[in-house]
Amino acid sequence: MASVAVIMAEPMKSDEILKHESATQPEEIDKGAMCDEIVGSSGALQKVLSLVSKVAPTDATVLITGETGTGKELVARAIHRRSRRSSRAFVSVNCAAIPRDLIASELFGHEKGSFTGALQRRLGRFELAAGGTIFLDEVGELPIETQIALLRVLQEHEFERVGGTRSIQTNVRVIAATNRNLQAAIGAGTFRSDLFYRLNVFPIEMPSLRERREDIPSLVEYFIDRYAKKLGKNIRGVSSRTLELFQSCPWPGNIRELQNVIERSVIMCETQNFSVDETWLPRQPLASDCQSQSDFSQKLAAQEKEMIEAALSESRGQVFGPSGAAAILGMPRSTVESKIRSLKINKNHFKNFAARLSRGSCLESVL
Ligand SMILES: Nc1ncnc2c1ncn2[C@@H]1O[C@H](COP(=O)(O)OP(=O)(O)OP(=O)(O)O)[C@@H](O)[C@H]1O
Ligand SMILES: [Mg+2]
Repeated sequence: MASVAVIMAEPMKSDEILKHESATQPEEIDKGAMCDEIVGSSGALQKVLSLVSKVAPTDATVLITGETGTGKELVARAIHRRSRRSSRAFVSVNCAAIPRDLIASELFGHEKGSFTGALQRRLGRFELAAGGTIFLDEVGELPIETQIALLRVLQEHEFERVGGTRSIQTNVRVIAATNRNLQAAIGAGTFRSDLFYRLNVFPIEMPSLRERREDIPSLVEYFIDRYAKKLGKNIRGVSSRTLELFQSCPWPGNIRELQNVIERSVIMCETQNFSVDETWLPRQPLASDCQSQSDFSQKLAAQEKEMIEAALSESRGQVFGPSGAAAILGMPRSTVESKIRSLKINKNHFKNFAARLSRGSCLESVL
């Protein structure tokens, strides 16, 4: 397996999970993500990891931006686990998934009778995260009035439960994330600029997978290994052709999409060699990628042609047999034959060339 830079997130202690579970709703604790690793060694990812290790020990608010599936939540968890708060709760809230009229009560809790259906006092997620970290995913979706309450938490470290009259002091670190352009939302009047500046104390921008294609082989191997273990399968290898295919995809859903394609392929895999159904791969390359992809394929084809022609010239046009081009290249005969066809190589040329040479023709006359 390729060498990869990995931050291993420490698993939670079991008593911590129990403490956590009794106090919070089960969906807030993602046990599956507890041992997740950040895989990759590209320069772009190294920059992110160095920011993570710098900011983790501080209590600074972090704003993580980036396209969907680039690992924003993974990075938020890594910051928490490397912080002094790691033994306390990490509470994750997806602001887009909670109905707008319930979000204030979800975050800050409510008092009994504060609205129809509030049959008893309920603690909000800030109280549940006491001493730990709250991760506000899709923070750009917060309604304006909740933005004001959040600003108060960040500035004054206090809030009130919905329907309450008492201020509650809080000691929670806030990590927020968004895949929206918050500057544009400020321009459109849907996001408060003062909240943006307060959240943006320490920005971390996650690179898309397209900007770090060199991480794809390590990610592919990591996910194959992970799903093969989970499914009890023995998968030994992945061909360089498959890796090239993965590296040439645009991956609009980034690592999550790559991960899902690999999980599906491992489920379907019936041999020890990993393969992928090409129809599952995102096909439409982005406009900006078209040129570099076609340059890459042209270069690849030219190199392949050169190698096959050199082997044919050595084997005097023979493809199979112990001294044939397939044996010289260490490739199956059928693969070499199909490449000769697709690359439009005239193997007779090498036979004729050999015959003419053996008849003593001069080199110049046959070229
Ligand atoms: N560098 C990485 N190494 C290994 N797994 C990764 C890496 N980055 C992301 N993942 C995995 O990809 C999936 C998506 O990551 P995550 O949920 O953190 O993305 P996100 O940016 O929060 O996405 P969204 O914007 O859709 O919420 C997760 O299963 C995560 O474990
Ligand atoms: Mg997320």
